[in-house]
Amino acid sequence: MSHGFKDKLGEGGYGSVYKGRLRSGHFVAIKMMDTSKGNGEDFINEVATIGRIHHVNVVRLIGFCVEGSKRALVYDFMANGSLDKHIFSKEGIESLSYKMMFEMSLGVARGIEYLHRGCEMQILHFDIKPHNILLDENFVTKVSDFGLARLCPLDNNTVSLTAARGTLGYIAPELFYKNIGGVSYKADVYSFGMLLMEMASRRRNLNSAEKSSRVHFPSWVSNQFSEGMDIDFGVDTMEESKIIKKMMIVALWCIQFKPSDRPSMTKVVEMLEEQTEFLELPPTKFSYYSNEDHGECSSSSMWPSTGDNYSDNTTFTHVPN
Ligand SMILES: Nc1ncnc2c1ncn2[C@@H]1O[C@H](COP(=O)(O)OP(=O)(O)O)[C@@H](O)[C@H]1O
Ligand SMILES: [Mg+2]
Repeated sequence: MSHGFKDKLGEGGYGSVYKGRLRSGHFVAIKMMDTSKGNGEDFINEVATIGRIHHVNVVRLIGFCVEGSKRALVYDFMANGSLDKHIFSKEGIESLSYKMMFEMSLGVARGIEYLHRGCEMQILHFDIKPHNILLDENFVTKVSDFGLARLCPLDNNTVSLTAARGTLGYIAPELFYKNIGGVSYKADVYSFGMLLMEMASRRRNLNSAEKSSRVHFPSWVSNQFSEGMDIDFGVDTMEESKIIKKMMIVALWCIQFKPSDRPSMTKVVEMLEEQTEFLELPPTKFSYYSNEDHGECSSSSMWPSTGDNYSDNTTFTHVPN
């Protein structure tokens, strides 16, 4: 089926992804899952959730194989890899314009909106983050990695989970704290907001390498805006500055602490298509939730410096107390 598994594209929580080629010449990505690491639930999850759906902004599952304890999922190969490489690396930053970054974020929003509203069942992804967004040869964004996804009837708003799931830095607070509200599609909205903030700023929100300064970027942005200060985005044109501002305002809506204060993905798409001037700021300031100290916010209107060594891309499931 493939010409040897030599070309490794990536590695995640449950196995490795290799580049392969079908007899037709079509390039594919083959996700080999190690069932000894889990109970195979991830595999079933992926097949069940995206096996039958189709949208330009969702990666296409071509097929799957089961052989003994080995499981493999076959996807269209995405020539430009995952989004993290483009937003956090110097090369990516130089080659992609803000206009393109914006278009890419709109694609992700439409992909998630489709998952939430476009199918018979609502598909909750639960692991939206740059590593799980892929880019094809034309930089069209595709939501991928449905290992943690859950199906939920359209008329039922909340799901019960036995364990919190997601990746630190993107995971919604209600997955940790039970008193905030039920777990619903709003958890994906939160993760998308964190991703959108990172796309707008081209820096990581959470920065473990920068522990000493403890600047939490979204809190800083929220403070700047709500105090009426203009942020110097360090870009050349007014147009770019407006695009970034729009992405940040929408992101702030998405990362509201209470799920009920966050918009639906349909509303998010609408806001992104709106002109920056017409967007309102969310009523409440964003507050950083953490077991540690709250992020300190610097008062200057320059961006806090970027330290770029945060590499915690580990998806986890966590059983709450
Ligand atoms: N279709 C694909 N085309 C190109 N690269 C891919 C593809 N699928 C996955 N990858 C690469 O492999 C990585 C891990 O894949 P993913 O499906 O997220 O697995 P995991 O569940 O292990 O995180 C991705 O972050 C990406 O870099
Ligand atoms: Mg992944």
